[in-house]
Amino acid sequence: MPLLTIAGLQKRFNLEAGFFARLGRFVNAVNGVSFTINHNEAYGLVGESGCGKTTTARLLVRMYEADGGNIFYHHTENQVEVGSLRKAELRQYRQQVRYVFQDPARSLNPRMSIREILLSGLRWSGDKTVSPARQFHEKAAAALEEVGLSGSDLEKRPTEFSGGQRQRISIARGLLPQPELLICDEVVSALDVSIQAQILNLLLDIRDKRIRDQRTMSFLFIAHDLKVACYFCDRIGVMYAGELMEEAPAASLWREGRHPYTQMLFASATASAVAANSAVRPAASSAQAAAVDVPQVRCAFAGRCPQAAERCFQEKPPLREIAPGHSVRCHF
Ligand SMILES: Nc1ncnc2c1ncn2[C@@H]1O[C@H](COP(=O)(O)OP(=O)(O)OP(=O)(O)O)[C@@H](O)[C@H]1O
Ligand SMILES: [Mg+2]
Repeated sequence: MPLLTIAGLQKRFNLEAGFFARLGRFVNAVNGVSFTINHNEAYGLVGESGCGKTTTARLLVRMYEADGGNIFYHHTENQVEVGSLRKAELRQYRQQVRYVFQDPARSLNPRMSIREILLSGLRWSGDKTVSPARQFHEKAAAALEEVGLSGSDLEKRPTEFSGGQRQRISIARGLLPQPELLICDEVVSALDVSIQAQILNLLLDIRDKRIRDQRTMSFLFIAHDLKVACYFCDRIGVMYAGELMEEAPAASLWREGRHPYTQMLFASATASAVAANSAVRPAASSAQAAAVDVPQVRCAFAGRCPQAAERCFQEKPPLREIAPGHSVRCHF
């Protein structure tokens, strides 16, 4: 059962600053992206820096307004188009679809206590026999405990915590209104490897607990590391230059990822030395993974693809289903 259906989503930015400014160039940050996040599913969005993952996530919560396409939110029996939600409806929607920011150091206001951070923007929808302050306190303490911190941490400030702990606080803030979807944008990439594993296991525990309690919650898990995403997700969309290049169940992608870009991502996770010797060149800069002036008539990956043929520079491949639930955007 779908929770969110994303259809032909589009967002383009002007490159006003820097080198490209006087050329009047733009970047197609998200270029016709379509996918579905089902109830209880962990969907992964994977790709190199600049490919449009964060922009996609921000479009989903309308931190950016889309230039094209639709986002359908399947709420109870109804289906609503997120782009048409009014202010009050949008506020409610954002309690259901929560975005955990990429950078915990910057997303937690250092002047606020953890209690204020957790409770800001939260609506009171509770039992009228207990005072709201009391309920809020209990909810916030419970949220902290769920992420492995303690209720006594509520009066502390973000600076008193380590990077991993701050990421736990961000996750607690996301979980607090009991959302239907938690968007985790690179929640582990800024952390040391050992801490990454702890946070990933925390997210797995949170998932298991929701399933045990029969409370549905889905994840949109954004990462540049394909192996990390395969570990956590049910299905994965591989993004390049604002487009989905391949979509498959995580297990099939792991065993038989078909797109040359997918294969490159798996290889780059093993060792940079391998990449240096292989035919696939890693991107020199993140701008290469973004669609800066990619002509719309060729494959966006053609310039870096070891298997590219003439056709790839002349004709844009469609996303084709090659097996049930497994689609690839490649002529070959
Ligand atoms: N607010 C903005 N204004 C102008 N350009 C932007 C803006 N946000 C993103 N971009 C550009 O859009 C492209 C996609 O960026 P986005 O942040 O979505 O990538 P990403 O996949 O999240 O990368 P990363 O892994 O580095 O977080 C990039 O080229 C980026 O420079
Ligand atoms: Mg990002």
